[in-house]
Amino acid sequence: MYVCICNALKDRELSEAANDARNVAEVFRRCGRRPQCGKCLPDVAQIIEDGRAAENPAPLAAE
Ligand code: FES
Repeated sequence: MYVCICNALKDRELSEAANDARNVAEVFRRCGRRPQCGKCLPDVAQIIEDGRAAENPAPLAAE
């Protein structure tokens, strides 16, 4: 699915670029692109957060 229409970037490509990325700008840099309209920036930030959450899942509640 396209996340960034301006740069024709799909969620899969962005997820790979977001691995260990510090911020949205770094994701775009890794993709060799620059944000244009900016509408996708919250979605790209969410992709970074989702990647972090997958790497560091919340601990289970104490039993
Ligand atoms: S949709 Fe990503 S910069 Fe416009």
